[in-house]
Amino acid sequence: MLVYVPPHPLIKHWVSVLRNEQTPCPIFRNALAELGRLLIYEASRDWLPTITGEIQSPMGPASVEFIDPREPISIMPILRAGLALAEHASSVLPATNTYHLGISRDEETLQPSVYLNKLPQKFPEGARVFVVDPMLATGGTVVAAIQLIKDRGVQNKQIKVISAVAAPPALQKLSENFPGLYAGILDPTLNAKGYIVPGLGDAGDRSFG
Ligand code: PRP
Repeated sequence: MLVYVPPHPLIKHWVSVLRNEQTPCPIFRNALAELGRLLIYEASRDWLPTITGEIQSPMGPASVEFIDPREPISIMPILRAGLALAEHASSVLPATNTYHLGISRDEETLQPSVYLNKLPQKFPEGARVFVVDPMLATGGTVVAAIQLIKDRGVQNKQIKVISAVAAPPALQKLSENFPGLYAGILDPTLNAKGYIVPGLGDAGDRSFG
């Protein structure tokens, strides 16, 4: 599995804003959105299919390269907090579909349960899917989400996970059956309640109150 933490000062900046317990809700949400924009940009490098051709610029013929509109790009935010991280995805990526997936983690058992599933029965041939969730703690949620996509015809190489913070148990789970992760930062541990430490706190509550 590829795990990549882009060494970019803006990524460090937005992670630091998110970490600060004093950051108020609207600024927290904006920081997640900005971090998501940067991580999606990084994850798109060398991954999105392009087509080449020639067009006429005002000054004459020019070779061009566009994102191939025939190969669909999908964003899959995991509610709730994934909505904030994915907020700017459509301004980075041309021609995306957004498929919402609501998963909540039981506070006692830490097991994920799906409460909203807007995935298609089958993803289009060649679809590329960004799975967007700020927190990868035990990894139960993201692995459940990836399984739902794979059940709909998507292979590992067609999936990238975008996350603000990831912890070792999630990395371990993902390494067993997974593609690529682009994260803002990797944190060392979870506490007894399954929260990432030092982490960001509860990203859903901090984004939406
Ligand atoms: C949080 C977080 C992840 C999940 C991570 O969501 O946003 O989706 O928990 O935990 P895991 O890796 O141990 O499965 P939560 O269930 O709190 O929902 P929310 O986004 O609506 O707050």
